[in-house]
Amino acid sequence: MSQWKQNKKILFGISGGIAAYKAPDILHSWIKAGCEVETILTKSAEEFVSPLVLATLSKKHIWCEDDFLSADKGWKIPHISLTEWADIFVIAPCTASTLKTCADGECSTLLGAALLANRKPLVLFPAMNPNMLSHTETQENIKKLISRGCKVVDPDSGLLACGYEGKGRLPSSNIVNEHIWKELFPKKDLRGLHVVVTAGPTHEYIDPVRYISNPSSGKMGYALAKYAWYRGAEVTLISGPTSLMPPVGINFISVTTAEEMYNACMENNSTADIIIMAAAVGDFKVEKEFSNKIKREENAPLALHLVQNEDICAKLGKMKPDGQILIGFAAETQNVMENAQKKLESKNLDMIAANNVLVDGAGFQFDTNVLSLIMKNGKIEEISGTKDDVADALLDFVVTKRQGL
Ligand SMILES: Cc1cc2nc3c(=O)[nH]c(=O)nc-3n(C[C@H](O)[C@H](O)[C@H](O)COP(=O)(O)O)c2cc1C
Repeated sequence: MSQWKQNKKILFGISGGIAAYKAPDILHSWIKAGCEVETILTKSAEEFVSPLVLATLSKKHIWCEDDFLSADKGWKIPHISLTEWADIFVIAPCTASTLKTCADGECSTLLGAALLANRKPLVLFPAMNPNMLSHTETQENIKKLISRGCKVVDPDSGLLACGYEGKGRLPSSNIVNEHIWKELFPKKDLRGLHVVVTAGPTHEYIDPVRYISNPSSGKMGYALAKYAWYRGAEVTLISGPTSLMPPVGINFISVTTAEEMYNACMENNSTADIIIMAAAVGDFKVEKEFSNKIKREENAPLALHLVQNEDICAKLGKMKPDGQILIGFAAETQNVMENAQKKLESKNLDMIAANNVLVDGAGFQFDTNVLSLIMKNGKIEEISGTKDDVADALLDFVVTKRQGL
């Protein structure tokens, strides 16, 4: 579990939409991540989700409309004390009615008053029927809130509980959370920069049903893309085939072969401030792919003639625009540091992350990694931990390098 998520204080507003049934799941995921959660329910939300469920999961009193002006709880002035306590205020689902309350600064309810008293980052997750969402009134309320610095997350599309197909669904808890983690992540030092990350393996087809590949899971590259986004960058992730979900908030380019990865890198090179080549790109491909499945013939061996793929890193190193930072990865099984150092120099990289993929807890498939970061000036930094923590640490060095430019 990432340390920085621990003990974050989330004020959770739930309004009365059908998607409130997802609220306990969202709340539970924050508790599991080590956060503290205080919850405010609107009067309508009490009809959609049980305060007892939320209280049990959060181990806290659930603030309902009756608490607002009551002698029993009202003296705690919940609309002010809760917003002072919180690191972030999240409303999910946010109904059309609560969006209007928020945009108008209407504060005759507990949630409305808390919204007006709030000075912490506010993230709203509108969820409603597509006609309600596209209505000019709702769209104007959203625009007004965005112009005031509030984050309004676009709803998902799909089949809604009202029977309509379209935009208006509350995203699942893992997507909701990525937006929250981004908002809570303390470093915003890649704002205004375009970061391009490559990840995963490539598949070099021999015939229509067979290919040459490697066991890269893509986890390291996906973690780098996610943390670059958390830090405020515009991120493009160019990924070979993996079993991972594309990270939230990034421009995702799916490729299969080394040639496709090469083309996608070339297309993004000129706008990239930072390129991190974490993909395990195939060095070789068959000279000519067979158009039909190769049949086994009795006792006959099969010889494949392999040719080299274009070296993407070396090509990018040759074309490197002024001010761009180019980082390579070297997954090695022997002479790790020497091979990595050679790559750093021959490919004109600014930094290379070397790892011995035979070491326990490092390299392909694992959720952890052990990296030696070799800088251009010969300095070496060792980083290890979960791939999330390693991604964060690696980006710290990238930021330091950029500041030195
Ligand atoms: C079954 C049912 C489902 C509803 N679902 C939604 C919804 O998904 N989104 C929405 O904006 N309003 C929805 N509404 C309407 C809201 O409940 C209504 O506008 C209410 O006043 C919202 O109050 P609140 O924002 O204070 O919670 C629904 C109403 C009913 C009866």
